[in-house]
Amino acid sequence: MLELIKARRSIRKYTSEPVGDEQIKMLLEAAMAAPSASNRQPWEFVVVRDAKLRQALSQVHPWAGMAARAPVVIVVCGRAGASHHWVEDCSAATENLLLAVAALGLGAVWIAVYPDAERQATVRRILHMPQSLQVLCLVPLGHPAEMKPPHTKYDPAKVHYDSF
Ligand SMILES: Cc1cc2nc3c(=O)[nH]c(=O)nc-3n(C[C@H](O)[C@H](O)[C@H](O)COP(=O)(O)O)c2cc1C
Repeated sequence: MLELIKARRSIRKYTSEPVGDEQIKMLLEAAMAAPSASNRQPWEFVVVRDAKLRQALSQVHPWAGMAARAPVVIVVCGRAGASHHWVEDCSAATENLLLAVAALGLGAVWIAVYPDAERQATVRRILHMPQSLQVLCLVPLGHPAEMKPPHTKYDPAKVHYDSF
């Protein structure tokens, strides 16, 4: 597990090889294994394979182009009405998802949508999502077409003992 955490990197290039339904289910099982405040699990996931929809999602902001090129995009959404902690809960689910991607030898990247209201509205419109649902991020994923070495960003200067 500790090796896998370091091996997870943001992968932005993918081959055209498809990602199977069974793999997507394994990824979503990992995502939904995340901790959540009061165990409310305020998350929803939209699995987007359709090329036109992915193309539209890739326009949400200038750093989202990978959504058009990945075979699958998982959109992580939160029910804000269900929990004050939906951001933390959905972020924990997203990190689990990214780690599971790495464990399966796939590659993915977290593309921010929240907290920008306009970008969230764009994603809602594309995917016909209810207004009440928040959009945390897009996760384009696929078989990696780039390799990055494992790393940690461990910095002892950021660690404080007993007082800041
Ligand atoms: C909240 C959040 C938002 C991010 N948004 C984007 C994004 O919009 N586009 C992108 O290419 N990468 C995005 N990233 C990925 C970061 O750029 C990446 O994690 C960082 O450069 C460190 O690289 P690593 O993930 O390989 O360790 C985001 C990451 C996080 C946690």
